[in-house]
Amino acid sequence: MTQIEVKHAKGRLGVLVVGLGGAVSSTFIAGTLSVRKGLGQPIGSLTQLATIRLGKRNENRFPLIKDVVPLAELNDLVFGGWDIFDENVYEAACHAEVLKKEDLDAVKDELAAIRPMKALFDRNFVKRLDGRFVKEGGSRWEQTELLREDIRRFKKENECERIVVMWAASTEVFIEQSAAHESLAAFEAAMKNNQVDALSPSMCYAYAALAEGAPFIMGAPNLCVDIPAMWELAEIKRAPICGKDYKTGQTLLKTVLAPMLKTRMLGLEGWFSTNILGNRDGEVLDDPGSFKTKEVSKLSVIDTILQPDVYPQLYGNIYHKVRINYYPPRKDNKEGWDNIDIVGWLGYPMQLKVDFLCRDSILAAPLCLDLVLFADLSARCGFYGIQSWLSFYFKSPMHSPDKVPEHDLFIQHTILKNTLRTIIGEQTIDYLD
Ligand SMILES: NC(=O)c1ccc[n+]([C@@H]2O[C@H](COP(=O)([O-])OP(=O)(O)OC[C@H]3O[C@@H](n4cnc5c(N)ncnc54)[C@H](O)[C@@H]3O)[C@@H](O)[C@H]2O)c1
Repeated sequence: MTQIEVKHAKGRLGVLVVGLGGAVSSTFIAGTLSVRKGLGQPIGSLTQLATIRLGKRNENRFPLIKDVVPLAELNDLVFGGWDIFDENVYEAACHAEVLKKEDLDAVKDELAAIRPMKALFDRNFVKRLDGRFVKEGGSRWEQTELLREDIRRFKKENECERIVVMWAASTEVFIEQSAAHESLAAFEAAMKNNQVDALSPSMCYAYAALAEGAPFIMGAPNLCVDIPAMWELAEIKRAPICGKDYKTGQTLLKTVLAPMLKTRMLGLEGWFSTNILGNRDGEVLDDPGSFKTKEVSKLSVIDTILQPDVYPQLYGNIYHKVRINYYPPRKDNKEGWDNIDIVGWLGYPMQLKVDFLCRDSILAAPLCLDLVLFADLSARCGFYGIQSWLSFYFKSPMHSPDKVPEHDLFIQHTILKNTLRTIIGEQTIDYLD
């Protein structure tokens, strides 16, 4: 087995979050600070709580992942980022109303010290928000240069050894891959010509991160790093990229239930999914352009798992609908309903109903923590480009063009753990022992 040389996780790791004042970011940061003070449990985080089986089943070796995989320590994380609102993270978290005031007050001083940098924002890409704390003027190229300076300054001022950049900002309107995205040269030319329609702000943040050699995580469904120009840049800079769209609520359930139907060869006629949520994300997704980006991400899952072309008699004619409704009274406490029409022996119909009363940011925060630690690990392992081993965390897992994405949660989990085993020089597990 080839041993992977993993660079030591020494020194501070700067975590720069785009959308620093959002519900997900503030819940992630406040939660991580609470956990490191011993005030809360990192529930939902594999890096903090999960074990990994090493060796044969009868060896009885089940250490914690964090005890055997060389991850950065929580105490070494330093937080920063950008937002279009000039609020510190304590103020932002109070406005997000996800965590209780007493929980926020326990880490108030540290949260209040984390202030955003001015954002790169373009209202044409997020129509329901109006940013005031933004970088004014300049071409996309010049604005991206400012983001690069931000990253370098943050790294220096906070004495960080390494940086990870994560997008937890709003979902941008749907755009398709075009000529400007097809190569790095075309992309850079488009930046200099200020071809604003083709170049979303998220692409500029991603470009800035990769150009500075930092891993980039795309937590929303934006096209962003899912284009050849970014793959090229990631390869040149030897930087990892991963995305898209945190897999938290309804899609998490879909990627468990759909494989269950398929493994039992049960048919599917229809899957109707609807959501109500009342946070700022819900307001942004109320705009048809942003919703379309999310819809494409949420719809892709079932077809890939069920393979209607291979099983036309079971999955050849599925009606799949996804709705998101902005409903302010629920705030961050989303409710996701699923009505699933399934078919059994001799074509007899049955139904499944799921009502998931979840908390969006409570589900997303541990994913952010794991992704930051794993993206940093990837970089220290010398992995670069698309990190499909992190598909476990995403609704639309990025993959190379010659491969199909893996959506099944438990297959994704096996891939993730086998990658960790490989990193630490242990045998991968095929369950045949
Ligand atoms: N919570 C979940 O379960 C979940 C799951 C999957 C994806 N997501 C995605 O994660 C993102 C964050 O969700 P949220 O609930 O925190 O939303 P939010 O609206 O609370 O936060 C988004 C933040 O991004 C900021 N922002 C927007 N454009 C920006 C830009 N160009 N530069 C810097 N800041 C910018 C906004 O001001 C806001 O503070 C959304 O795109 C959402 O769709 C969330």
